[in-house]
Amino acid sequence: MSSIFNSGEETERAPVWVMRQAGRYLPEFRKVREQHEFFEICRSPDLATEVTLQPTRRYAGLLDAAIIFSDILVIPQAMGMEVLMNPGPFFPEPLNTPADVAKLRKHVDVDKELGYVFAAITQTRHALKGQVPLIGFSGAPWTLFAYMIEGGGSKTLQKAKTWLFQYPEESQALLMRIADVCVDYLFGQVKAGAQLLQIFDSWAGELSPHDFATFSLPSLQHIATSLRARLATANIQAVPMTLYPKGANMSLATCAAAGYDVLGIDWCVEPSHARAAIQATPIAIQGNLDPNVLYAGRDAIEREVKRMCREFKGQGANAPKAWIANLGHGITPGVDPEDLKWFFECVHKYSARDAVL
Ligand code: CP3
Repeated sequence: MSSIFNSGEETERAPVWVMRQAGRYLPEFRKVREQHEFFEICRSPDLATEVTLQPTRRYAGLLDAAIIFSDILVIPQAMGMEVLMNPGPFFPEPLNTPADVAKLRKHVDVDKELGYVFAAITQTRHALKGQVPLIGFSGAPWTLFAYMIEGGGSKTLQKAKTWLFQYPEESQALLMRIADVCVDYLFGQVKAGAQLLQIFDSWAGELSPHDFATFSLPSLQHIATSLRARLATANIQAVPMTLYPKGANMSLATCAAAGYDVLGIDWCVEPSHARAAIQATPIAIQGNLDPNVLYAGRDAIEREVKRMCREFKGQGANAPKAWIANLGHGITPGVDPEDLKWFFECVHKYSARDAVL
């Protein structure tokens, strides 16, 4: 694996990639999408490999990782739910009450249901020829649980939260059931060649710190612990794992202690504050530019990247230590790919060990 992601070691500059880097802001991605449905791309190892490689080709020498093209919602599909993308996620039959859990598959055979992701990972690893490492990923149980109950996106998460408060035990049981599928799925990804794993808890920040600790955190800890044990038993070397609990900025200390190697943060917390919050477990941090800065032109991008680099260096250590540069959330459609290139160039320049900030 490229040394640039070696668990918090000091590097010449910060390694950088962006969430959703293979996506609709790229004309070459939109061209593939004109011909193929979203989940058709996910299920075809040839198409998934092609789309995963698109940003690594366009930004060769600037971008330090690839992330396998897929979606977090392939887990609910593997558990037996129908999920459509039109244009956002849509579940025709969401889980309305705990009785509906009986409709889910009792045992999920991830090799059978998600073998196409493993095939895409292996094919992409070969196609990358060691140029950059390949990241695998999974949704976090709480975020997946919320989608499975809401049946799609939601501003309030009213249905999912009603479950937590009205059926706490059934909710915890379902969260752990999802976590077990995540463990099998992530294990399969590492076996197939993934070199770093990220868990997306995109809706972590919708929970109070108490509810996050009660419902989300135990399933996140379970994933980290069980996966490491599974890999050790199989004699497979562990890979670094990133936890991205979007918005859970009052829970960073517990997140850092949850068994992961990297903590992904959004732009609503200052890097220096995040560092201070996780002092007891000083793992690496990933993030955290507001993706909307990419719409504001070159001067704003340069200014804000410089400020981010200053914040991450902070505290006197003039080196990009234990930091993976990224946006604070996924890149959105409509960003000019040349402006993203400028973002990468600015990160290279201002995160360098000897940069003047
Ligand atoms: O990062 C990458 O380039 C890898 C691919 C990737 C996708 N989705 C492709 C995608 C990853 C890592 C995801 C994760 C994902 N999917 C998350 C967690 C990250 C986050 O953004 O919070 C979530 C919540 C989903 C669920 C999902 N998939 C939503 C809400 C949507 C629609 C909204 C949107 O952003 O378009 C999707 C669709 C989706 N997943 C697209 C892509 C490129 C765009 C759909 C299209 O091509 O038509």
